[in-house]
Amino acid sequence: MASNSLLSKIATNDGHGENLAYFDGWKAYDGNPFHATQNPDGVIQMGLAENPLSLDVIEEWIKKNPKASICTPEGVAEFKNVANFQDYHGFPHFRKAIANFMSKARGGRVKFDPDRVVMAGGATGANETVMFCLADPGDAFLVPSPYYPAFYRDLGWRTGVKIVPVDCDSSNNFQVTRAALEAAYEKARNNNINIKGLIITNPSNPLGTTVDRDTLTSLVKFINDKNIHLVCDEIYAGTVFSCPKFTCVTEVLQDVKNCNRDLIHIVYSLSKDMGVPGLRIGIVYSYNDTVVNCARKMSSFGLVSSQTQHMLSAMLLDDEFVSNFLETSSKRLARRHRFFTTGLEEVGINCLKGNAGLFCWMDLRKLLKDQTFEAEMVLWRMIINKVKLNVSPGSSFRCVEPGWFRVCFANMDEHTVEVALKRIRAFVGLEGDKKSNNADHQLFVNSPRKNRRQEGLRLSFPATRRYEEVMSPRMISPHSPMPRSPLLRAS
Ligand SMILES: Cc1ncc(COP(=O)(O)O)c(C=O)c1O
Repeated sequence: MASNSLLSKIATNDGHGENLAYFDGWKAYDGNPFHATQNPDGVIQMGLAENPLSLDVIEEWIKKNPKASICTPEGVAEFKNVANFQDYHGFPHFRKAIANFMSKARGGRVKFDPDRVVMAGGATGANETVMFCLADPGDAFLVPSPYYPAFYRDLGWRTGVKIVPVDCDSSNNFQVTRAALEAAYEKARNNNINIKGLIITNPSNPLGTTVDRDTLTSLVKFINDKNIHLVCDEIYAGTVFSCPKFTCVTEVLQDVKNCNRDLIHIVYSLSKDMGVPGLRIGIVYSYNDTVVNCARKMSSFGLVSSQTQHMLSAMLLDDEFVSNFLETSSKRLARRHRFFTTGLEEVGINCLKGNAGLFCWMDLRKLLKDQTFEAEMVLWRMIINKVKLNVSPGSSFRCVEPGWFRVCFANMDEHTVEVALKRIRAFVGLEGDKKSNNADHQLFVNSPRKNRRQEGLRLSFPATRRYEEVMSPRMISPHSPMPRSPLLRAS
């Protein structure tokens, strides 16, 4: 075995997060995946935020437009030009097509300038590129919790940027407040942490909700007052399926007096809105010219292939297709969301009222033996091993309240959703009976309450032991390549 001392710190630290406890759920799925006929008792994957519900609409367009592909007799004449292209500005018509799609995915209420569209390898690459442009190693970004667990990797693994959580809770449906931001900001400053900005996901992963206009305006005011950056990861902008409608950060800029637009940056991707994460289409859209310039140069490390650019240019400049796709996708997501949440309500399980995303934020607090994260982990392991559903515990998103779980509902067919609901019904019925009838049932741990707020402000130090002890269960990558990883298969 090669000695790690010969390798870099990045190569040998755990910043990627693949080895952590959370992946037990993914391993359970990978070792025993559900199949309706071949493995009906297998584990159902509800930890994957994928959106294949409207891929048929894209396939139809591809069949009708063979010229858009350079690998068809109709399109091969463009092969040489396209395959030979490597300019990091991207094809002008690709940038125009992306700007057009971004606008349509936000209801046409805002316009985007193609000259500000910068390519990246998915939102993963886009988030990292933005961090490289805005912060130095050791600097930090405020992140309202619960938040996307792979932010540790994307924002910090290679850049050295740290995360400072801003605690949000169910008392106001997990909306971030100015008071919470001020508290986190002041505490960080008192600890000599240099806060360079605030990053939000809107719509939120894992909450499946959108940030309302007033809150968004207050966030813009906050960063403007502090003279720090605001990064809005809007990767789920086109997944909004019911009211209230989505408000993009661009819409509120004119509401804030003397807003310094140089501080505003959007991260986008087609991975969720179009359900094509494999194509790795990530976008940095910044109102800051220097950031656009620098990010464009950096994009050499994560360009979108010219073949993909070529095809998508034709597809996304087809207004009829784009409108039809977005409408169909939104209707199908709404239907699926309703089907799943109604099924849960029938057995007394509520979710945070959601209007976007590919998941629900499910409230299982009443199934915990006591309100601790230890009890949450016990319940989570039962759901994986007994109910055979791979869902994601709230602690992995650094939620401050135990008992919340993120459950993805779009990455499977309707029959699989029905099987999942049936299993949940059986489980909840059983557990309800046990809790009311059986005083000594051993299903849940009984450990002292740990209040995360009292742990105080903590930066993420993914490589340290402390991180492993305290943070490991939170470190989930909902879109990790783990299940298909050759490394995992080998092990
Ligand atoms: C909030 C958020 N940002 C970024 C990403 C990464 O997306 P991509 O596949 O485009 O890299 C995800 C994926 O789950 C996400 O949920």
